[in-house]
Amino acid sequence: MIKKIISIIIVLTIGFSYYPTSIGKNGVVSSSSVHASDIGIAVLQSGGNAIDAAIAVGFALGVTFPNAGNIGGGGFMVLRLANGEVSTIDFREVAPLLSDRDMFLDDSSRVIRGKSLYSAFASGVPGTVAGFGYAHEKYGTKSWESLIEPSINLAYNGFKITTRDADYLNSARRFLSRDKEASEIFVPKKKHKVGDLLIQTDLANTLKRISMYGYREFYQGLTSRRIIQCMNRTNGIISKEDLLTYKPVERKPVEFEYKGYKIYSMPPASSGGICLAEILNQIEPMNIETFDYHSPEHVQLIVEAERRAYADRAEYMGDMDFVEVPIEELISDEYALMRFTDFDFDIAMPSANIGPGLSSSYKESPETTHYSVVDKWGNAVSVTTTLNGKYGNGIVVDGAGFLLNNEMDDFSIKPGHPNKYGLIGKEANSIQPKKRMLSSMTPTIVENPSGELVLVLGSPGGSTIITTVAQIIINIIDYNMSISEAVSAPRFHHQWLPDVVFYEDGGLPTKTIKALKDKGYVFHKRKSIGEANCIQIPSNGVIFGAADSRRQASTKAY
Ligand code: GLY
Repeated sequence: MIKKIISIIIVLTIGFSYYPTSIGKNGVVSSSSVHASDIGIAVLQSGGNAIDAAIAVGFALGVTFPNAGNIGGGGFMVLRLANGEVSTIDFREVAPLLSDRDMFLDDSSRVIRGKSLYSAFASGVPGTVAGFGYAHEKYGTKSWESLIEPSINLAYNGFKITTRDADYLNSARRFLSRDKEASEIFVPKKKHKVGDLLIQTDLANTLKRISMYGYREFYQGLTSRRIIQCMNRTNGIISKEDLLTYKPVERKPVEFEYKGYKIYSMPPASSGGICLAEILNQIEPMNIETFDYHSPEHVQLIVEAERRAYADRAEYMGDMDFVEVPIEELISDEYALMRFTDFDFDIAMPSANIGPGLSSSYKESPETTHYSVVDKWGNAVSVTTTLNGKYGNGIVVDGAGFLLNNEMDDFSIKPGHPNKYGLIGKEANSIQPKKRMLSSMTPTIVENPSGELVLVLGSPGGSTIITTVAQIIINIIDYNMSISEAVSAPRFHHQWLPDVVFYEDGGLPTKTIKALKDKGYVFHKRKSIGEANCIQIPSNGVIFGAADSRRQASTKAY
């Protein structure tokens, strides 16, 4: 009751148009699953910090959102401690020791269709459990067991599936039927119905082991042996040594300023932070706020900045432990100015004319998942995690109840060959044993010009992740939107190749599309782009959560 009254007072004070999806003074969790958000809030209420809550939410998503939440995949975490220290944890999958550059090509160097996506070869060595374990040892305060226990219960006792869950599972029936382990868990005789219980006993037992013996159990204990058993059954190549030697890496964030705001995001192996910096740096001097929202000029500026950033992505970006990525040059203001000198409001610059800047049938599938957490002390965590494709490669580890990723497709499996997201890559992102495949995941944290935490952002959506985060930042900083308005505003996307502007159906004014088509732009409709589960901390001491309605996400506050 008291909470309701506080909410009403806030709404009356700041106006209905700014009413966010959740409001709290002590903590907010925004995620793809109501169960996961509830679990995160319970951790915060019991005295845990944002890192504890983020770990608990991550495990819960592995149970309740199995198309993307995972323990068989990987991801990235950006965290900002209450004292202002910012760091990132890279728990991206790595290529197995037995992988090689041409493993997805036939003898004539042609790409073997589907091998990088739908076979056991598609899996990188999973990093999620090690990432959470590392984060907990360094930054957590609650016991490891207490963070996993709610997920064990959800997996043992089951949870009632929603319309969204039923739709996801039913649409993947054929795909999941190919693997006997996946079929037993996810493909009942009759299609899933709303309200059915999804019970995952094998997964519950795996989580129990991880809880009892610590995160290393996944890499050294019975779970690791089950993974090897699965590799033997499916002819995969992840070895005991791969599992024993997997390590998450704590890295310095990519850090840059946009209009006085300090933005922290993920460095390689994600391209997210660098591309985000490139896009915003190119737009910064262009006074975008002087153009009407979604006017031809507004859309064109963003599209052209995106085009140039993604051309650089293809050329320069890869795992920086293997290739030298010129991060400082790419994220500098001087480079952005130079990169945008050929921008012209009168024409669409063809991607064929845009090469990398430093030297001289595409279908998005929404299978990654993003969540954000802020606690009462001001610690903030932004996590994006994925199996890559929806339900990964569709293979469940024998007797362990979790799906494996198909992240190997994020490598450039052949220079110039588009991946699942239509993204082109080159040598910097070629396959090498132990290398991390290039990602677009963009967990991001923003401070205002006074150095205070103001935004925790991110999204799923493959290649569209970066442009979704960029547009939310522009919506808030340049167009003064609240977080809920910024998240729900229609999105568009350009990624250099294919040379097309993707836009959400009904999302752009017809006259904007017409004006830009007249200049040479090609437009393709998408049902939706991204699912940004974000948090805003305005200076009035409350925390606003936004859950993206595009995928029935959930935000909870207290
Ligand atoms: N698997 C999608 C990404 O990492 O960008």
